Amino acid sequence: MTLARLDLFAFPRARLAHLPTPLEPTRLGDGAVRIWMKRDDCTGLGMGGNKVRKLEFTLGDALENGASLLITSGARHSNHVRQTAAAAARLGLRCQAVLHDPIDRLTDFYAASGNLLLDKLFGAEVHLAADAEAATEAKIADLLRQAHAAGERPYVVPLGASNGFGSLGYALCAEEILGQCALQAIRPTAILLATGSGGTHAGLLGGLRLLGSDLPVIGISVSEPASVKRARVRAVLDEMLALLAPAVPVPDSDILVLDDYVGDGYALPTAAANAAIRRLAESEGLLLDPVYTAKAMAGLLDMAAAGRLSGDVLFLHSGGTPALFAYADDFLSPTRLEEAFPLC
Ligand SMILES: Cc1ncc(COP(=O)(O)O)c(C=O)c1O
Repeated sequence: MTLARLDLFAFPRARLAHLPTPLEPTRLGDGAVRIWMKRDDCTGLGMGGNKVRKLEFTLGDALENGASLLITSGARHSNHVRQTAAAAARLGLRCQAVLHDPIDRLTDFYAASGNLLLDKLFGAEVHLAADAEAATEAKIADLLRQAHAAGERPYVVPLGASNGFGSLGYALCAEEILGQCALQAIRPTAILLATGSGGTHAGLLGGLRLLGSDLPVIGISVSEPASVKRARVRAVLDEMLALLAPAVPVPDSDILVLDDYVGDGYALPTAAANAAIRRLAESEGLLLDPVYTAKAMAGLLDMAAAGRLSGDVLFLHSGGTPALFAYADDFLSPTRLEEAFPLC
């Protein structure tokens, strides 16, 4: 059987990712459900993650437009910002990042380790804003003014690189997944992932439909209500489909998002997510993160246990590993180090 291919060669692309990432079996699941892991935590650049695929196209556009400076934004432990900072270093561009604190977590780990530490190591100029919206927008406008005055060519990378260009990276990932399933004799019944700014979900879903696959894509919201996430996915998906011709209609009913696993909100760990982190570390040697992938995995495990999934189920491991270090004290109290590591 010949698999359909996407023709995205007309789009400028910065080659940044280690591709293809593996699609691996796990020992999770039971007789009725087999869980496969699409290892996009292994995209390589700057400790990997889903943004590397998106940035290949977003930054392809930036380079085509002669950018010398990338300006982006996100939460203090944004994986997107860390991957953008790494990509900027790799491409010889400057990077400015406007970060905000989504939660009150005043531990030393949270203040300065994890993604923030890596942003600094990648040479990004970091600015802290008072909030995600007005203050961040005002700071970005200010940085843009300064950049133009200094003769720079700034390019604003949208939150999560979630625009039409960015999602093309995940349309290609859909092609990669279908090829791997065919080669490995996997017959997937669903693919689950963490849905944040929506671009990963939009790209995967759009790519699958463009390739003639009706595989359900189930997004587990990491922050807002499902209706808000569905609207986000719809908007990015339409932007991506508008870049491609001929466009394939994707009905609203195909945009599946569950908001049962968010807990108290974005970046606030849940007991089930932390349990998923421990379980995957101990049983698979795999690291999830408390903000995105652990909540999505908690959703998958819960749905599997409730009989809502069957057969070969794919989980998109979208990365986020460095954020785990910002939450180290959820797993290991620094005041009880002697207990954790007794002297022999
Ligand atoms: C580790 C991880 N997983 C999933 C997502 C969600 O991807 P998207 O913003 O494209 O919905 C993000 C976004 O930052 C992320 O960092």
